Amino acid sequence: MNYLNQLPRSPFQDTILKEHAAKQDWVNQNKKGFLRYRTPYENLSTYKARFVDCNNDTVTIGNALEINTADRKIITENLRQFMPWRKGPFSVFGIDIDAEWRIERKWQRLLPHLPDLKDKVIADIGCNNGYYMFRMAPYRPQLVVGFEPSVQHFYCFQALRNMAGITNMHIDLLGVERISLFPETFDVIFLMGVIYHRASPVDVLRDIFAALKPGGTLLLESQAIPGDQPYALFPQKTYAKVPGTYFVPTGICLQHWMMRAGFKDARLFCTHPMSSVEQRKTDWMVFESYSDYLNKDDELLTIEGYPAPCRVFLKGMK
Ligand SMILES: C[S@@+](CC[C@H](N)C(=O)[O-])C[C@H]1O[C@@H](n2cnc3c(N)ncnc32)[C@H](O)[C@@H]1O
Repeated sequence: MNYLNQLPRSPFQDTILKEHAAKQDWVNQNKKGFLRYRTPYENLSTYKARFVDCNNDTVTIGNALEINTADRKIITENLRQFMPWRKGPFSVFGIDIDAEWRIERKWQRLLPHLPDLKDKVIADIGCNNGYYMFRMAPYRPQLVVGFEPSVQHFYCFQALRNMAGITNMHIDLLGVERISLFPETFDVIFLMGVIYHRASPVDVLRDIFAALKPGGTLLLESQAIPGDQPYALFPQKTYAKVPGTYFVPTGICLQHWMMRAGFKDARLFCTHPMSSVEQRKTDWMVFESYSDYLNKDDELLTIEGYPAPCRVFLKGMK
């Protein structure tokens, strides 16, 4: 989380430093829940890839010829410690990681709508293992910070980044609820797959608006319900078996939230149904996946009987 010296000083710098120190102490604990990810991170970080390619659907870090059979076994075992792999695809020294989500497809949908990323300061909130951050690297941003409270993803991202030898990408254990500590800091913010997990989504959008520099851009992606009316579903307990889901809006509802949070030109640029082609069980994610979350007799409904989800993509400016 050592990137603050690359940003203008925040008026809340002391608070950030204090919270970073507390998070670092927390994650440094020698307890099983931390060591299970810290150990593979340390083991993998000793390998340095010569070939790195972030320009294609599969993020490639090292190729098979760079390592011997013994190293291949060690690297595979350590990569598997980060299971379940939710986001990908990656290939690490020739080991193909087929993650649950094929999020190269999400990136393809974003591509025509990306703002200029060159020399920009970017935040990817809820960055998971950093797949999109790696895809941003070829655009030569000044700095990319992933905000991600999960210990698993915190160490997984750093293992991948260290093997790739990329120096302008960092991960911060602070969550979106602390983004207000960074006023007028970012040129571009990505908020994907997060907003329906927040109890106060409009407050999140207001905080993100405040964290953007004037003229900055938000790229927002969310699970949504189908429909052209400005409604949001509020599930009783779970939505498509996922607990911690609060408001699931229609695309137009999300657009209204953005406008009410202050965004100019809030625009819905893509809507598509979710499917088990993009989200499925694999050798690297062996638990239930999308098809298990739907009503067996009617795939237009979730297992709880709510409308089955689609995905929406929006863009807005400060
Ligand atoms: C559904 S995944 C989306 C991952 C990725 N952004 C994508 O679109 O594919 C949600 C991510 O948000 C992270 N997350 C959970 N709580 C968060 C919080 N308070 N702030 C930021 N991210 C959070 C999760 O750990 C997870 O990596």
